[in-house]
Amino acid sequence: MATIESINKDKLPSHVAVIMDGNGRWAQRKGNSRIFGHKNGVVAVRETVEAASELGIKYLTLYAFSTENWNRPREEVDALMSLLIVTIEKELESLLENNVCLHVIGDTQSLPKSVQKQLFRALDKTRNNTGLNLVLALSYSGRWEILNAMKKLASDVRKKNLEVDDLSCDSFVQYLTTSEYPDPELLIRTSGEYRISNFMLWQIAYAELYFTEVLWPDFRKEDFFDAILDFQKRERRFGKISEQVNTESVN
Ligand code: IPE
Ligand code: IPE
Ligand code: MG
Repeated sequence: MATIESINKDKLPSHVAVIMDGNGRWAQRKGNSRIFGHKNGVVAVRETVEAASELGIKYLTLYAFSTENWNRPREEVDALMSLLIVTIEKELESLLENNVCLHVIGDTQSLPKSVQKQLFRALDKTRNNTGLNLVLALSYSGRWEILNAMKKLASDVRKKNLEVDDLSCDSFVQYLTTSEYPDPELLIRTSGEYRISNFMLWQIAYAELYFTEVLWPDFRKEDFFDAILDFQKRERRFGKISEQVNTESVN
């Protein structure tokens, strides 16, 4: 298990994104309801936020609820929404103490009003914090985001605010909900599933992917540090060859 001391602070990913998966299976293995798993997932959220803060990582995105998750049984969705309200309220003090600035991406309008209220309150209270930027992906999916971006873009073209020929990757990203954040350099998924599940489809083009068998409620700081250490061993080539990358890092 990795310790914080074993991590090279000069080679940190600026943005880590996490697909927090495995709550339901964790609970069912213990003979409990799936909702019990979600409740226990909060500990792992706290540990991950603290670990990222302690390391000095600038951006941490947590995939908490996907647009597809609305299709789960009604009682599970309701329980998740209630848990969100309670958790945001309960964790606010610690976010403030740790200088964490909260952000949200996703279709927040589709969340119950009571969730929106807690969420917007927390966004407002933490907005001047200068430490970790914690981005919650709620009612989020990559396709939803790209489609939304396309709609806004088409509208700008129609209003003649944008010339189609001027469109580039850099100008396209201005239409995404993540326009103010760097792309994730490391994407972690727990629970032994090897898929992306509609998460940040544009932004993870060159992310390093890290999969672990650990179920989300069991995920601890050391697991996060393990992922960072693994990231630090990778050679990121961005289409080039190894020799080019090595020469660039020397110069
Ligand atoms: C992740 O755990 C939490 C959410 C998607 C909200 P799951 O609820 O997907 O747990 P498993 O994958 O069924 O074990
Ligand atoms: C992905 O987990 C979404 C979140 C972690 C919020 P899911 O459990 O919903 O993904 P699938 O359905 O197994 O792909
Ligand atoms: Mg799952």
